[in-house]
Amino acid sequence: MNQQQPSTEFSGRNVLITGAASGIGLAIAEHLAARGARVAGVDVAASIEEAVAGLPGEGHLALRRDLTEPGAADEIVEEVRRELGEPHVLVNSAGVAILGPAEELPAADWRRTMDINLDASFFMAQAAGRAMTRAGWGRIVNLASQASVIGLDQHVAYCASKAAIVGMTKAMSLEWAPRGVTVNAVSPTVVETPLGKKAWAGEKGERARAGIPAGRFAQPEEVAAMVAYLASDDAAMVTGSNMLLDGGFTSV
Ligand SMILES: NC(=O)c1ccc[n+]([C@@H]2O[C@H](COP(=O)([O-])OP(=O)(O)OC[C@H]3O[C@@H](n4cnc5c(N)ncnc54)[C@H](O)[C@@H]3O)[C@@H](O)[C@H]2O)c1
Repeated sequence: MNQQQPSTEFSGRNVLITGAASGIGLAIAEHLAARGARVAGVDVAASIEEAVAGLPGEGHLALRRDLTEPGAADEIVEEVRRELGEPHVLVNSAGVAILGPAEELPAADWRRTMDINLDASFFMAQAAGRAMTRAGWGRIVNLASQASVIGLDQHVAYCASKAAIVGMTKAMSLEWAPRGVTVNAVSPTVVETPLGKKAWAGEKGERARAGIPAGRFAQPEEVAAMVAYLASDDAAMVTGSNMLLDGGFTSV
C-alpha cells in the first residue's frame, strides 16, 4: 500500500469527542480525522475553534460548551445530528484532576470532579447511546485512568470518579451489546498532556516515572491509537473492557 495515501478507515463516520481542545482529546481528534472521520469537537475552552480548524480533512464541527450545564449533552448530540448526521463514535475525554488530601478535600472540589468526570460522561453516553442503539451501530470510549483500579495519593475524588466510569461502562456495555453498540474504557498511566504535567510535576513525577516498569509516561498519540482500535469495526467483540495503557504500572 502507498504510505502517502491518506487512510480512509473512518471515512463516513461522525466522531463526537469531548475535551477535544487539548491533550488526549485533541490527539484523538487528529488521529481519527487523519483517517477520514468527521469530528465534532466539544470543549469549554475557546481554543476549541482553532483546534478543530487545524484538523486534517473537512467538514468538522467545533462546539464550545460547558458539559456541566443541565441539558448540554442532549443539545450537543442534537446539534451533531443536525450538522453532521448521526453520531457513530463518542469519546468522553473531558476531565479534571483536582487533587488534595482526603481529610481536607472541599465538598466543592469533590462535586466538580464528579460533575465533569462522571456525570458529564454519563449524560453524553446516554444521549449518544440513544441515537446509536436506534441506528444499530455505535462505539463509545470513556477515558478512565489507572486511577480507576488503584488508589493514588491526593487523588480521592479523581480515583472515585474514574472507578465509577468503569462501572458505568460495564453496565452500558451489556445493555447495548445486543443493539450493536460497544462501550469501553481506556485507562492510561500519566500521559504527557497539560493535565498530566500539572498533576505530576517535579519530584513526585520523577518518583512516579521510576515506578513504571516501562520507565516512562505515556504519549497522547499512544492513547489515540488505542481509542481508534476500540472505535473501529475490528473491535466489534470488545465491550465492557477497561483497557490499561500503563507501561505495567498497575501490574507491579
Ligand atoms: N493526562 C493524564 O495523565 C491522564 C491519565 C489518565 C487519564 N486521563 C484522562 O484523560 C482525559 C483527558 O485528559 P488530558 O490529559 O487530555 O486533559 P487536558 O486538561 O489536557 O484536557 C481536558 C480538556 O477537557 C476540557 N474540559 C474540562 N472541563 C470541561 C467542561 N466542563 N466542559 C467541556 N470541556 C471541559 C478542558 O477544557 C480541556 O480542553 C481526562 O478524562 C483525564 O482524566 C489523563
